[in-house]
Amino acid sequence: MSQLRATKPGLLVCTAIGIFIFLYLRNPTPEEAEEEPTHPAVVECGFYPDELCSALFEGKEAASQIAKFCKAPHGSEILAHLHRPRNCSRISWELHFITRPLSPEEGTFPLAYIVTIHKELAMFVQLLRAIYLPQNVYCIHVDEKAPKKYKTAVQSLVSCFENIFISSKREKGAYTGFRRLQADINCMKDLVHSKFQWSHVINLCGQDFPIKTNRDIIRYIRSKWNGKNITPGVIQPPNNKSKMSRTHHKFTPEGDTYASRNERFRDDPPHNLTVYSGSAYYVLTRKFVEFVLTDTRAKDMLRWSQDIHAPERHYWVTLNQLKDAPGSTPDAGWEGHVRAVKWRSEEGAAHDGCQGRYVQGSCVYGPGGLRWAAQLPALFASQFDSAEPLVVTCLERWHRLKVLGQAEVPVEPHWHFHRESHFNVKLSPW
Ligand SMILES: *[C@@H]1O[C@H](CO)[C@@H](O)[C@H](O)[C@H]1NC(C)=O
Ligand SMILES: *[C@@H]1O[C@H](CO)[C@@H](O)[C@H](O)[C@H]1NC(C)=O
Repeated sequence: MSQLRATKPGLLVCTAIGIFIFLYLRNPTPEEAEEEPTHPAVVECGFYPDELCSALFEGKEAASQIAKFCKAPHGSEILAHLHRPRNCSRISWELHFITRPLSPEEGTFPLAYIVTIHKELAMFVQLLRAIYLPQNVYCIHVDEKAPKKYKTAVQSLVSCFENIFISSKREKGAYTGFRRLQADINCMKDLVHSKFQWSHVINLCGQDFPIKTNRDIIRYIRSKWNGKNITPGVIQPPNNKSKMSRTHHKFTPEGDTYASRNERFRDDPPHNLTVYSGSAYYVLTRKFVEFVLTDTRAKDMLRWSQDIHAPERHYWVTLNQLKDAPGSTPDAGWEGHVRAVKWRSEEGAAHDGCQGRYVQGSCVYGPGGLRWAAQLPALFASQFDSAEPLVVTCLERWHRLKVLGQAEVPVEPHWHFHRESHFNVKLSPW
């Protein structure tokens, strides 16, 4: 239940006036803003974050309007922590990392994550601290093309955590295509040799954010997919059946479909494999990962994948159809709420439009999309970027409250995002 709803209706107006006055007083001129883009002098939206976020989660139109004026990234504060001389206990404390398993149930069901990143350091920190728990293990694939400063900063951060490491082999341009697929495989090789145990692996990229808590995620995996892989997708449609793919659009919770546009493959797939098409995102069992790294069909399929368009949308789905693959789900189709994406091509069919803007065919959520995102059945949503800093800031506050609300151990003060608002109204998860 929102505590905001219980407060006086004048609050939003006060917030609006407060922010307008604040902007009026402190907004730097465009020249000033350009001089130091990564260190804006003020974080306007941090002034009343909880009220504004609450209003956004409630879908209040006025709040979306106000949010447009919030341009200064909260990220500058995060980056300031990283750029000081490294002190790991301080970093973990000040960046609000959760330092103990929150329940025995979670402590005994460790997950592995593969996170592929190449830009937006502050957002990476926000994503990492949202998914971080000490019992899990994290392989970070930093793109070989990323600036040296970026790589150094990521290295310096992750070296503070025993259970986070950078992929030992790194690809150039691993945002999409075969390099992306290879980046996942590189991390998998490291993960199977990690001293940390894990039962399932989930892949993410820097533009994703969790909607569900760690506990929700493992309960979802255990209840509906016990011992099974989740790779939403269907058989590669024949070239002349574009209508069929539209039908599928409607039923896919993923919203993730044929980017591959029914291409013909130059060479036949190896071992007469039937090629499936679907999501690049998955939840895979450890046994399946071991199978992928050793099975001849999987290796040959990987070699064959070098020459096709968007192989990351075929590879996992196709291998998960093999009846003898561990945890395979040949009949699952689009089932599995792994990732919510609003594709431009599906506007009107699978969703009612992007409350933000489209980048490379999929929606980057704006403040107006928060209400929608919070109600998703999906485990994660994509995509977010630092051009909308308020969106991720609100989402992470909302997510953290959900996480701490489920904790079965005493909550440490530094696990909370503080900066209590002027009015002392708290954002409640709902
Ligand atoms: C690191 O930070 C902690 C907590 O802020 C502090 O107690 C400790 O002295 C610092 N260590 C070093 C080496 O500066
Ligand atoms: C693939 O299937 C065809 C017929 O469906 C068969 O003739 C061929 O031997 C198979 N190839 C392999 C490598 O299994």
